[in-house]
Amino acid sequence: EKGGYPHYMLKEIMEQPYALAQTFSSLQTQDLSEVLKILENARRIYVVAAGTSYHASLLGAIAFRRFLGVDAEALISSEFRVVSRVVKWGDVVIGVSQSGETIDTLLALREARERGAKTVAIVNNPFSTIARESDYVVSMRAGPEIAVAATKTFTSQVLTLLYIIAKLAEKSSAINVDSKAMIHGIKMSYEIAEKALSVSQGKAMAVANKLFQKHSAYYLGRVFGVPIAMEGALKLKEIAYIHAEAYPAGESKHGPIALVDKDYPVIFIYIGFLDELIEGNIEEMKAREAWIATIAPENMVRGSIEKYSNVVIEMPRAPLETRLITYAIPLQLIAYYTATLKGLDPDKPRNLAKTVTVI
Ligand code: F6R
Repeated sequence: EKGGYPHYMLKEIMEQPYALAQTFSSLQTQDLSEVLKILENARRIYVVAAGTSYHASLLGAIAFRRFLGVDAEALISSEFRVVSRVVKWGDVVIGVSQSGETIDTLLALREARERGAKTVAIVNNPFSTIARESDYVVSMRAGPEIAVAATKTFTSQVLTLLYIIAKLAEKSSAINVDSKAMIHGIKMSYEIAEKALSVSQGKAMAVANKLFQKHSAYYLGRVFGVPIAMEGALKLKEIAYIHAEAYPAGESKHGPIALVDKDYPVIFIYIGFLDELIEGNIEEMKAREAWIATIAPENMVRGSIEKYSNVVIEMPRAPLETRLITYAIPLQLIAYYTATLKGLDPDKPRNLAKTVTVI
């Protein structure tokens, strides 16, 4: 049932091209007109989620601001009460949950609805409690995810959020986004995911070979790279039990760099959009003799990225939307290989459940 793979996690990582293609075509067949209408008229948009789904939500919130000029805020479901007093009629709260059963996300959405907001569920299970209890449902078709660590559902969530944003851009003439090109970039993510999987395996193994002997690592990115860094760090913690911390790269000199010394692993996520200053951060880390791995578009590997990275994972040339969907892939592989090098079973991390249904 693992399709010839040693673990479900690897199977699900490798299935991403298919999951992305399926999710894209399912979005095209869903009638999203009501969802788009309420989002268009929203007083304020909140995106609530937990864990990996929260990282997809953070990326989505940056995209709402950057591409639509709309202020959307991503919130951890269990922290929703920090805003619940100001949530009211006219607001839209989007809940992002693979399982559709995460209790914190369910409670946040219930509270939002009680306060008069409209709720939208983005789920992989359309029969789930969260789907049933929300005003509107957007369904992904990533297929069942068995491994505890979320992989293909993360990339599918990012695809879904970007698709909604592209559709909103299409409706508004005031927005300077080429929605057709954006939809095309989203659609081609499955091809790029396939290429990314094949080009990054060997390099991800090289990074894992370094990480598996370490006790901690930094994952640094800027803007869209920050939630992707957070996702990479979470994967490493969850299944390889190595402390990993994600930080906005520009903030690293305000404290975190203090613990970087010779051979300390630092993984940079360079998307190639509003994050060119990462080059300077790479130099700062190199000056402390850090061990550096950088994920970057193959056509942008130059300067200090090329000069100072011990490993560069060169991602296929692709439009921005496509990059936002696919850059977590090498980070998933890094965590997977690191766990297996440590002799751990990535499908059954200690202390974790696939779905958290108790508070
Ligand atoms: C991480 C992971 C968890 C879930 C979180 C939310 O790999 O799987 O952090 O992302 O528990 O679950 P859903 O998306 O089902 O609400």
